[in-house]
Amino acid sequence: MIGASLPRPDAVGKVTGATAYPGDLVRAGMAHLAVVYAGRPHARIRHIDTSAARALPGVLAVLTAADVPFNRFGLIDADAPVLCDDVVRYVGDRVALVVADDPASARAATALVRVDYEDLPLVGDVHAALHPDAPLLHPHRPGNIVHRLQIRRGDPDRGFAEADIVLSETFRTSWQEHAFLQPEAGVAWVDDDGRIVVETAGQWLHEDRRQIAAMLRLPEDRVVVRYAAIGGAFGGREDLGVQHLLALAAWVCRRHVALVWRRDESMATRHKRHPFTIETRWGARRDGTITAVAARLLADGGAYASTSQEVVKIATLFATGCYEVANVALEGLALYTNNVPSGAFRGFGSPQAQFASESMVTRLARALGIDPVEMRRRNLYREGSIEPSGEPLPPGVSVRACLDAVVDELARQPQSAPPAGWRRGWGVACGIKNVGYSFGYPEQATATVELSGADVIERAVVRTGVADVGQGSHLAMRQIAAAALGLALGQVHLISDDSAATPDAGSASASRLTLVAGRAVHDAALAALARWHDEERPACATVQFRPRATTPLAAADGAGRPNYCYGYTAQALEVDVDPATGACRVVTIISAHDVGRAINRQQVEGQIEGALAQALGYALMEEFQMRDGQVRTAGFSTYLLPTALDMAPRIIPLILEHADDQGPFGARGMSEMPLVPFAPALAAAIHDATGAWLSRQPMTPERVRAAVRRATAGEEQP
Ligand code: MOS
Repeated sequence: MIGASLPRPDAVGKVTGATAYPGDLVRAGMAHLAVVYAGRPHARIRHIDTSAARALPGVLAVLTAADVPFNRFGLIDADAPVLCDDVVRYVGDRVALVVADDPASARAATALVRVDYEDLPLVGDVHAALHPDAPLLHPHRPGNIVHRLQIRRGDPDRGFAEADIVLSETFRTSWQEHAFLQPEAGVAWVDDDGRIVVETAGQWLHEDRRQIAAMLRLPEDRVVVRYAAIGGAFGGREDLGVQHLLALAAWVCRRHVALVWRRDESMATRHKRHPFTIETRWGARRDGTITAVAARLLADGGAYASTSQEVVKIATLFATGCYEVANVALEGLALYTNNVPSGAFRGFGSPQAQFASESMVTRLARALGIDPVEMRRRNLYREGSIEPSGEPLPPGVSVRACLDAVVDELARQPQSAPPAGWRRGWGVACGIKNVGYSFGYPEQATATVELSGADVIERAVVRTGVADVGQGSHLAMRQIAAAALGLALGQVHLISDDSAATPDAGSASASRLTLVAGRAVHDAALAALARWHDEERPACATVQFRPRATTPLAAADGAGRPNYCYGYTAQALEVDVDPATGACRVVTIISAHDVGRAINRQQVEGQIEGALAQALGYALMEEFQMRDGQVRTAGFSTYLLPTALDMAPRIIPLILEHADDQGPFGARGMSEMPLVPFAPALAAAIHDATGAWLSRQPMTPERVRAAVRRATAGEEQP
């Protein structure tokens, strides 16, 4: 049961099209919604005239800010208006919501909503946001700062003085679009009990419920959120998308309503992965010991907070990667701009930070004439290593084992030659990513298990609010319950997609569900089993699992215990580079992961391969672009995703199982980790092949070609 590659029960329906996604819930007779977007990055609203839109045949209502009971929402900081009343802060801000009999009338009416704007000065990027005279996007946020933190350890000045070599570099990363399969959609109505019901897709039923209830000023038990099949998430469904708009329209109009977004609406208005500028300086001794790291990380948070403060904390914590460094001086800043908001995306700040840190370790190794693998082994985190925040890592530090597994596999690779005129190189990188919520957030998951049967247990019903965003969490929860109870999989029934029928399991994010919700299911199963043995019929138990406590980081020096579990990874990439065009082709990927215990091996491999495709896109081609506050890449013709033909022909996942002391059967999370080391391993491989260093992601042909030319020119100098 545990470790078996059991097939996904949901696979056939998804492949044949039988499965209902939120867009499939639309029924005849429902009213349809369409959103009026700002379309401009920064402006004051002088007046909104909805009369022409209301007069259009088929239009039932046009909602504006005045119709919203509490006009604020947000995952951490409720700083975003549901419908803007005074100011718009990015092109995707919502100004009005049309309710009509059919989708065409709703869309047509959006063009008739007349908004009188007075444009305000644009804050186009982080440098503009930092300018002393910059307009404030949120008057209560001085300096346009969403969040700032510093982490200091040891004596950085002495650490750099002790170094035999000091290297500096500035790394830049772009926005990344989640590009999940299904754009946002859903339906909503008020049921016979007067409850507002929203059926959609998301990552956390109970958090969606909380925010909808707050917006409508209703108690939470008057709001029901249900998830249909979810077409991918990757962090992109953490913030409310259509949930609150559906709830608002159904509540105000007392109608069954439907909203199905187009791809360009989804891409132009939803949060993205944060672009970062990372200025960093690393010092090392001749023997390869890293003596000091300084870094300043600037993240473009866009118009609203979303999860910026947590992302910038994670990125800053990982500015030294997975290396123990005695002397560190790190500063992280997330800033408001008039760009699309940045928020959660698989890896949550780790890929950006470790593009810089892993690249610096490779560069130091090359400069010192040390093998990059050896350089890593000298500095890697081990059991008991101290984090930049000054406390020992949680137990189970396995990054060295991941690196060793990759190096062993690398030695077994067959030799082959690149195509004529191309050059081939290998690159290696390591990675670390937290599992679960950090910095003192009250981490928990709750599950209920009910056992029934005549003489023996015939059936178990597991209730826990875990979202299956495509990663297979539902099957994993059933496997865990079946294994704990000694039942066949078919005897375990899971209820998970209804906020009114399940306890809160927390979000499908931060690689946390298998560990946290899985452990709650495991413990609830054992507790119910004990009651069954005490003759309780049916036997029922509810367990809340809370992992080891974490703490916030101290304001002065970042001291604290940020996380309770880490996932570790290492990768090697074989890459062919065409120096004439700058084109790169990833030939082989070796990706090692300590997953603690694979609950379902096939799903773990699927998660690794899926994340590698997303990582390859991020590293090589995906570049969401904004200019002057306008989105330039709102479709897949301009925002280039990798296809099957772009993927490496050889992918070798290596699954290590060093049991975590908290996870069910030793499992720890793994779903974000393959994204972390990919870009720096690619940059290292390009350097190995051509001598060129890339410090900007994505590594497009233009950038690679330019870097190769610079490197070649450098070699020609005496
Ligand atoms: Mo996420 S980026 O933890 O959904």
